[in-house]
Amino acid sequence: MASKAAFAFGMVAALMGLQANAQNPDDTAEASPKLTTYKCTTAGGCVSQSTSVVIDWNYHWFHTKDWLSCTTSSGVNSTLCPDQATCAKNCMVQGDANYTANGVATTGDSMTMNQFTYGANGIQSASPRVYLLGADGNYVLTKLLGQELTFTVDLSTLPCGENGALYLSEMDASGGRNPYNTGGAKYGSGYCDAQCPVQNWMNGTLNTAHAGYCCNEMDILEANSRANAFTPHPCTSTDCDKGGCGFNPYSQGHKNYYGPGGTVDTTKPFTVITQFITNDGTTRGTLSKITRKYIQNGKMVASAVEGGDALTADGCIAADPAAANFGGLPTMGKALGRGMVLTFAIWNDATGFMNWLDGGSNGPCSATEGDPALIQKNNPDTHVVFSNIRWGDIGSTFNSGGAAPQPGTTTTSKQPTLTTTTKASTTTAAGPMQTQFGQCGGSGYTGPKTCVSPYTCKVSNEWYSQCL
Ligand SMILES: *[C@@H]1O[C@H](CO)[C@@H](O)[C@H](O)[C@H]1NC(C)=O
Ligand SMILES: *[C@@H]1O[C@H](CO)[C@@H](O)[C@H](O)[C@H]1NC(C)=O
Ligand SMILES: *[C@@H]1O[C@H](CO)[C@@H](O)[C@H](O)[C@H]1NC(C)=O
Repeated sequence: MASKAAFAFGMVAALMGLQANAQNPDDTAEASPKLTTYKCTTAGGCVSQSTSVVIDWNYHWFHTKDWLSCTTSSGVNSTLCPDQATCAKNCMVQGDANYTANGVATTGDSMTMNQFTYGANGIQSASPRVYLLGADGNYVLTKLLGQELTFTVDLSTLPCGENGALYLSEMDASGGRNPYNTGGAKYGSGYCDAQCPVQNWMNGTLNTAHAGYCCNEMDILEANSRANAFTPHPCTSTDCDKGGCGFNPYSQGHKNYYGPGGTVDTTKPFTVITQFITNDGTTRGTLSKITRKYIQNGKMVASAVEGGDALTADGCIAADPAAANFGGLPTMGKALGRGMVLTFAIWNDATGFMNWLDGGSNGPCSATEGDPALIQKNNPDTHVVFSNIRWGDIGSTFNSGGAAPQPGTTTTSKQPTLTTTTKASTTTAAGPMQTQFGQCGGSGYTGPKTCVSPYTCKVSNEWYSQCL
């Protein structure tokens, strides 16, 4: 009821010419799905927070007051948007993104993200990416230095080639809100990451220079049911440690640790705990170690590596010398101390088939198994569920049965303590991509506008463009 009324008001306001200019919002408000999260302290336990998720800016429609698209399949329309001010005069961002059509559904403290959705025009690769938004309309700055982050994940339906990702990017809390973009974070603007993506807009502003937007990124979980990794990607102001020194149990020889029927059994949900340990145990020290623990079926799971699964500052530099050029864990720690934005995504990769995560020495998947076309055919329902997301003081976010978490003994292997591994390739989602025959444009359409190779977006009519 409420949303229909708001939509009706939007239409009336639009007809009356009450629209704001710019890639400022139009009159349709964004209704970000609520997703409860928890903040925990040792003294006070966990307290729920009213937070929501907002889908990335690029999943919205940019249009003129006459409902012409301001973007094309290859970028912004340079006639309508030759510069920031003109673009602001001609174009606005449409609110009211359809989260269902984009594969996102939340209930309480749980969120399901689907790779594919089904509409009147058949299967679409929705591949959503969303950010955690606070009640104040800004992104929540999650401060994790000397703290821990815990959540439960179900990725049982994610095959080779899919990536269900929960990570942190050091975006501007307001999404780069400015006079030409008064919506900012409420509309999902300002995305950056350690792959320095080149986007139509950069920190909320038209990106006329086609510059890449780099920022510190901490990948907490990049995973499917066959492989997983956590990876810090520190940056300087102009470049980042794009490969990063990641921790992937399979790469380290623990081939049966993670997977269906493994020590961490991916056929069922499990809880992921990531701790950011400082040299002095405070939230102001230098980041010296990142540790990983799991809980499944109510029990702490044995670590893969004896003594615990961890990345250390020294181990990181030894395994990935490039990390030193970007300040390694200490730089990552400073960003975690300032606060970073929690990002959730599900995606696949039409070029490298996600082999850096789950193929070759990194996982059991064959080189071509992760082809998105195969995934679409064999796993049309592939999705990830993130729930019970909480962070705070070390030890405050999970219950290990009264005792400090102890790694078990049965599956702990005798391995040296060096626990780092270098990633061969990139880690982060490209923008959303549409598959063959899927919709990629048209009036009112807010889904992915770029087609997977080798297809291109062809306009059928004002209402419908298709990847052919
Ligand atoms: C750009 O917008 C102008 C004005 O609306 C339109 O005439 C032109 O066809 C558009 N170009 C593209 C490539 O969409
Ligand atoms: C949103 O998308 C879903 C699924 O594609 C569709 O059933 C629904 O009607 C859409 N809602 C609106 C308001 O357009
Ligand atoms: C992003 O935009 C915000 C708001 O205008 C500004 O305060 C911040 O400095 C910008 N960040 C970068 C890296 O340009």
